[in-house]
Amino acid sequence: MAIGLIGGSGLYDIDGLKPLEEISLSTPYGAPSSVYKRVVLNGAELIFLARHGIPHSIPPHKVNYRANLWGFKSLGVEEIISVGAVGGISCEMHPGSLVILNQIIDMTMGARTATFYEEDKVVHVDFTNPYCAGLRDILIEAAGTAGLPVKERGTYVCTNGPRLETAKEILFFSQIGADVVGMTAMPEAVLARELEMCCAGVSVVTNYAAGIGGSRLTATEVVDAMKSSLEGLKSLLATAVVQMPEHRSCVCKEALKEAGMG
Ligand code: HPA
Repeated sequence: MAIGLIGGSGLYDIDGLKPLEEISLSTPYGAPSSVYKRVVLNGAELIFLARHGIPHSIPPHKVNYRANLWGFKSLGVEEIISVGAVGGISCEMHPGSLVILNQIIDMTMGARTATFYEEDKVVHVDFTNPYCAGLRDILIEAAGTAGLPVKERGTYVCTNGPRLETAKEILFFSQIGADVVGMTAMPEAVLARELEMCCAGVSVVTNYAAGIGGSRLTATEVVDAMKSSLEGLKSLLATAVVQMPEHRSCVCKEALKEAGMG
């Protein structure tokens, strides 16, 4: 079974891997961000999607998250690794750090459509732990095997963007427990859950968040820092993909069980 990989700013394909196939899809929710590229990494099949389009043209608040996730599901993908650039908030999050996320604080405030269930059926999926525990374990173990230092947990605060944050917003986010800040983890993670897919979030810290490093933030700094982390990221993925189980034993595959009202 192919594994889905979503690449964010600075990750538009997997360096050095020639796609076996490019798949263009339409969905009931409109067009996904780009073509899906089927690649083989370390003997495992991956289906890659560039979240912001190729070339990078879709800002985080305009990404069609529903189409992207639906497209993966329709290609038979059950497990997704979602990679994104973030600003570091807590003291151990430095540019270059790789973080296997375990929690999310959603500050998009309803500005994005965050469900497939808007009509007819009312569904409340459990989101206590927004990421798949099994996939997280695989990534953490893979990091150990590949000798890569990763942060084994991190809370991601998701803002609507596209502007960056103020220094006081970052201070507030740090006080409510956020470790990193980005603009794309939501609604991606919850839509994956509604489709009963496993999802893990890997963040690449590309800069200190506003007011932390002291300097002005630039978009070029984000893309450049992501590029310097690509080698590590690729070796993490190459080690993780061969450890994916044939059959899922986690609760993600039953996310809709007991989630519907009536
Ligand atoms: N804030 C929000 N999103 C980001 C940042 C940031 O500092 N860096 C990379 N993505």
